[in-house]
Amino acid sequence: MCGIVAATAARNIVPVLIEGLLKLEYRGYDSAGLALLNPTLTRLRSVGRVAELAAQAEGQVAHHGIAHTRWATHGVPSERNAHPHVSAGLAVVHNGIIENYAELKQELIAAGYAFTSDTDTEVIAHLIQETLKSSADLFEAVQRSTARLIGAYAIAVLREWDETIVVARHGAPLLLGLGQGEDGGNYAASDASALLQVTRRMIYLEEGDVAELRRDAIRIVGAGGTAVERPAHESTLSADDVELGEYTHYMQKEIFEQPQALAATLELIGGAQAISPNLFGVAAPEMLGGVRSVLVLACGTSFHAGLVARYWIEQLAGIPCSVEIASEYRYRASVPNPEQLVVAISQSGETADTLASIKHAKAQGMGRTLAICNVPESAIVRECALRFLTRAGPEIGVASTKAFTTQLAALFLLAVTLAKQSGRLAPEQETSYLAALRHLPVAVQKVLALEDAIKAWAERFADKQHALFLGRGHHYPIALEGALKLKEISYIHAEGYPAGELKHGPLALVDKNMPVISIAPNDALLEKLKSNLKEVAARGGELYVFADADSVVDEEPGVHILRLPEHYGLLSPVLHVVPLQLLSYHVALVKGTDVDKPRNLAKSVTVE
Ligand code: M6R
Repeated sequence: MCGIVAATAARNIVPVLIEGLLKLEYRGYDSAGLALLNPTLTRLRSVGRVAELAAQAEGQVAHHGIAHTRWATHGVPSERNAHPHVSAGLAVVHNGIIENYAELKQELIAAGYAFTSDTDTEVIAHLIQETLKSSADLFEAVQRSTARLIGAYAIAVLREWDETIVVARHGAPLLLGLGQGEDGGNYAASDASALLQVTRRMIYLEEGDVAELRRDAIRIVGAGGTAVERPAHESTLSADDVELGEYTHYMQKEIFEQPQALAATLELIGGAQAISPNLFGVAAPEMLGGVRSVLVLACGTSFHAGLVARYWIEQLAGIPCSVEIASEYRYRASVPNPEQLVVAISQSGETADTLASIKHAKAQGMGRTLAICNVPESAIVRECALRFLTRAGPEIGVASTKAFTTQLAALFLLAVTLAKQSGRLAPEQETSYLAALRHLPVAVQKVLALEDAIKAWAERFADKQHALFLGRGHHYPIALEGALKLKEISYIHAEGYPAGELKHGPLALVDKNMPVISIAPNDALLEKLKSNLKEVAARGGELYVFADADSVVDEEPGVHILRLPEHYGLLSPVLHVVPLQLLSYHVALVKGTDVDKPRNLAKSVTVE
């Protein structure tokens, strides 16, 4: 979603703003813009890529500026709707949605303000301008204006003849970067990747914080209206983590990084002989003890990870587990269970619906909360009592890949921990699960070797309009994930189904133009699945089967088979999702879509 960069420094900050926007491109956007102080305002905006804005900004020099990538919510992608929005010498960039903007807009129109865009953001610019009539101090005007906003926002504000930048956040991410070295300066951005070029010292703003950035100082006032000190963290993100290196696309890089990402995530179990609940935080032994049911809340790919976890938790720990789409749970009248463990799964830790759903659960008295997340210090991590941080490293491609497999590793550890706490885990089982987890990076590496064969399959998908993904048991969520991957980056309509459900409807769709992708591990459901595949073959459907080395399924006309090197028991979903990621990636390449930034999508969905 939208990305913000702000900078005030002795150096020329124009290249810093542009580089920051380029680093935030992955979040998804349709237009970009910036405002510079010289000491009057210069505003530049463009529809399309940051590169176009960079060309416009060529030759500009400034020491104070704010910049933005916009993902349209209110108003079509266009130059007039691109940020910054201005009100008489004052410029604002904004990430989030202002829910009461229509009412504020009426009020401001009545006060004589003319609107030039369809955005909710322009309301903020005029509201601050109006507030400045009764208090000349920009910081105070931002505080008073934001107090009137309902909704989510991270904003950065700049005004002519004023050498400060004021930023504020509520419900959308924003952090400060503290300049180091000779050039110094102070910065703000939606995420750390935008600021690594100038600093590693970051301060994560809290909900309701308003901060003032000067070249040589910052001050922060918390939601309570008093000055606060927020701890500075040294970012461990490496610049290489966010560079493409030898790869053509981030999605490709992230698929191939999965062995390392899993190894890093599983470093936590090191050479341990036993699994400890402390993996989930110091309060975990007490909080997880006596858990009798689990509720998982998540969106998109993270939701699919939760669906796999349900099979594991129920089978291993013998406790009921429900998995809900966060945007549904937050608004439905569910029955609260204060004893239940609530698990929020999120790559970004900023997904608005997941964050709101966990707050909703807490408001209903459900305090046993656990975040499984890839971003330390993110809002979801801070909202939960317990945490497990996956170590996938920054995921830039919109299509989630390494975040998913590392989430699965974390969820398997949770299932085993709960099993142990329920007295259902024999010591030899524990040892064998630990060994399987440790071998996982190597097993995934072997699956990646199937790429060339998958590439050849991908050619055959390019002219297809629809595809069906089938799986059974804990591979059913992998079918859903395969379908999501294909649709989001290749724009081919795809659906995931439990194979047993085929004859209850989707079989009607099957003909020679409908490729059917099936996950066929060598497990207890293989024979059932084979019957389902016969139903497809009998209707002329073209089957693409991902089997295990020892799955007894035969290649025949209309049935193509690729075999994964080894059967991986309960952890098999971690392996079987990898060829589906590769398939989507290569179909997208054949179709020539924008793999890392598919149309209409954003990486972090920070608005509802
Ligand atoms: O950051 P999160 O894991 O909370 O994001 C949830 C979804 O927005 C995300 O998984 C989305 O579905 C991906 N584009 C899927 O590839």
